[in-house]
Amino acid sequence: MFPIQRPRRLRYSALLRDLVRETQLSKDDLVYPLFVHEKAAPEPIPAMPGQVRHTVPSLVDACKETAARGVKAVLLFGIPDRKDPAGSEAYAENGIVQRAVRAIKDAQVQVQVITDVCMCEYTSHGHCGEIANGDVANDPSLKLICRTALSQAKAGADVVAPSDMMDGRVGAIRRTLDDAGFGHVPILSYAAKYASAFYGPFREAAGSAPQFGDRRSYQMDPANAREAVKEALLDVEEGADIVMVKPALAYLDVIRDVKQATRVPVAAYNVSGEYAMIEFAAKAGVIDRERVIRETLTSIKRAGADLILTYHALEAAAWIS
Ligand code: PBG
Repeated sequence: MFPIQRPRRLRYSALLRDLVRETQLSKDDLVYPLFVHEKAAPEPIPAMPGQVRHTVPSLVDACKETAARGVKAVLLFGIPDRKDPAGSEAYAENGIVQRAVRAIKDAQVQVQVITDVCMCEYTSHGHCGEIANGDVANDPSLKLICRTALSQAKAGADVVAPSDMMDGRVGAIRRTLDDAGFGHVPILSYAAKYASAFYGPFREAAGSAPQFGDRRSYQMDPANAREAVKEALLDVEEGADIVMVKPALAYLDVIRDVKQATRVPVAAYNVSGEYAMIEFAAKAGVIDRERVIRETLTSIKRAGADLILTYHALEAAAWIS
């Protein structure tokens, strides 16, 4: 081989490196997650520096900024004032997410609005469904989840994204939407969602930490990759249009496996803990923040993600084409 093969030949000049680069980030891939609450003013989220809990008006502004920067979609999380065991604010006609979606659509902002379909921000116990015998009861929870997805679609959501990890929820949501005349609304399923410690800052932001136990009886074991493929294939069979792997960084192999096993777009969620690690390390002055963000997003794309959900979306959109 050597000295015939000299891989460095292609690295000496920036122009040549551009020419042979295998992975390009694109603004078209990014989705920006946003939080909306019912308080009178926006509130910064200490665990996620740079992110805020919006009011409906400040959320509409954030969506306008998202569109202005060329980012095509937002993912909405609602934080209700009132929680109860059945999470009824998740599917209330005038719930916070429903009002927020209507406001974005009324303002005719050019973004796709993806709504997170889950119960944990809305239940007093903080779990992603209805509790029976000390655990989340799968089939009864499907009713609540379907009601939530339908009420979001009625409010104008462009895509619904179930993140609860109950068995059979994609099929149940698909039937519910179809029966109600929302057959055109796609489902982005959190197909392989792991029981991860990387959600810590999000749970502080959304006040959604479980009040007892943990989520290991419904979210996946971080040790399993083949099971992620099984989950993704099941979701596609049930009608998922896009499948997601979450978190992203500790699961790049899973993104790759799901990409190879399916024929639908694959999304990856660069979650709150991954965001916080970059932000706090940058604050401590130990990393070059912008380069680390770029490298992180590039790695997720290189692994095979077609869509990347990231709290760095707006900022990254400013540097990429
Ligand atoms: C559940 C949900 C969670 C996240 C998105 N949807 C938290 C959880 O499962 O506890 C986490 C997102 C993040 O950490 O950025 N509704």
